[in-house]
Amino acid sequence: MIGTVILRAARDGDLDAILTITNDAIAHSDAIWAISPMTRDQRAAWFADRTKAGLPVLVATDAAETVLGFGSYGPFRLYEGYRRTIEHSVYVAANARGCGIGRMLLDALIAEATAQGFHIMIGAITADNAPSIALHRAAGFTESAVLPQVGQKFGRWLDLLLMYRLLDQSQPEPHQP
Ligand SMILES: CC(C)(COP(=O)(O)OP(=O)(O)OC[C@H]1O[C@@H](n2cnc3c(N)ncnc32)[C@H](O)[C@@H]1OP(=O)(O)O)[C@@H](O)C(=O)NCCC(=O)NCCS
Repeated sequence: MIGTVILRAARDGDLDAILTITNDAIAHSDAIWAISPMTRDQRAAWFADRTKAGLPVLVATDAAETVLGFGSYGPFRLYEGYRRTIEHSVYVAANARGCGIGRMLLDALIAEATAQGFHIMIGAITADNAPSIALHRAAGFTESAVLPQVGQKFGRWLDLLLMYRLLDQSQPEPHQP
């Protein structure tokens, strides 16, 4: 039973918990297409980069400050023309899923990205990750494209589904080609 959930900006002291959640997803799922465990130095460098760029890393904790999940966003691609598009990620600890935490994190990232003036937010999702697809649909994302067999993990090909959300709702919804 998960009681009160608190969302806040991540701190250095959350890095070990973020690393544990990440490495559990690497070891036990194809939600993330990494195969080797991430090192603490890699996670610390990612956190420092995001913080330096003014990009959010959020954690969800319980009342005892146990980290239950995290979310963040960063550049989609690096050329300047992509500067108003971001790609996000959300991870919830296996024992805390299905309690609304993923939705809380995603909604908070959407609000922050809108406030920061970004235009389009992209989720790049393993095409058979039903919980993630349902979460993104519920949060207003639209399925755009499937790139077949662009990844491999656990001895099988993986398809990548791109889902997007317009952030500035005063703008017309882009039409899909
Ligand atoms: C995907 C993930 C972030 C969802 O987080 P969560 O906290 O379990 O999701 P929530 O409880 O907030 O659910 C939000 C919505 O997602 C959908 N959803 C969540 N889990 C689902 C499941 N197992 N099956 C179907 N739909 C599901 C539902 O639409 C739900 O809305 P509802 O409560 O109105 O039914 C979580 O399962 C996770 O961390 N998975 C591993 C990593 C991952 O796949 N990350 C996403 C990479 S793109």
